[in-house]
Amino acid sequence: MKGVVLAGGTGSRLFPLTKITNKHLLPIYNKPMIYYPIQTLVDAGIQDILIVTGGRNSGDFLRLLGNGKEFGLKHLNYTYQEGEGGIADALDLAEHFADGQKICVVLGDNIIEGNIRQAADDFRAQPEGAKILLKEVTDAWRFGVAEMKGDRIVGIEEKPKQPKSNYAVTGIYMYDGSVFEKIKKLVPSGRGELEITDVNNAFIREGTLTYSFLDGWWTDAGTFDSLRRATNLVAETESRRSGGPASEDDDE
Ligand code: G1P
Repeated sequence: MKGVVLAGGTGSRLFPLTKITNKHLLPIYNKPMIYYPIQTLVDAGIQDILIVTGGRNSGDFLRLLGNGKEFGLKHLNYTYQEGEGGIADALDLAEHFADGQKICVVLGDNIIEGNIRQAADDFRAQPEGAKILLKEVTDAWRFGVAEMKGDRIVGIEEKPKQPKSNYAVTGIYMYDGSVFEKIKKLVPSGRGELEITDVNNAFIREGTLTYSFLDGWWTDAGTFDSLRRATNLVAETESRRSGGPASEDDDE
């Protein structure tokens, strides 16, 4: 399975932090944001990775990441999204790279505590379709939300005012090669974008979407509050792992 990190967009919700740089280059504790989704893929045993960038600062990704040596990779692939067509539009640019194989897609602002190795292995063994990862949250209206019937997902609603469950659809998606045909049939949503939620609903209609629950904490980092939350969570986790305090002030 190949990996795709979606790191385009203008990051308008983080303006003026994103006035002169791309959202995914902003710091989350001690690393640029994009390091985390790349690491998520590498931890799932994925070595062949495409970064989809966009905007005015896309050249900075190449300078920052190079060929991915810091992640133990030999090579990284890059492509460029023109304009603001949405997540599914960005993913469409991966068709040539995917070359019919399965892909694991991670949104560039999604950060997780644990790893997705089991889910990735399960999807490698899944004959066809898609797999998404759910997380129980208290602010489901901010996300794509799964509607459940028993233990089946019967639909996903994008940022519903009245969520039908507390299960957010995280920005980690696994797809077979049919995802690109599905993207090509999409029509832009009310906000003028091709929505990843509509892609997932196409797999639900086909009866080929599976899911699992993500272990450990999960956060996006696309708003001021979630950016701060992401930094705090990473700092606390690093501190716990190293057995020391997160704050350098504590050492003084
Ligand atoms: C996107 C997706 C949404 C998903 C979220 C995860 O929303 O559209 O379905 O739950 O990512 O981070 P965005 O935050 O880009 O508006």
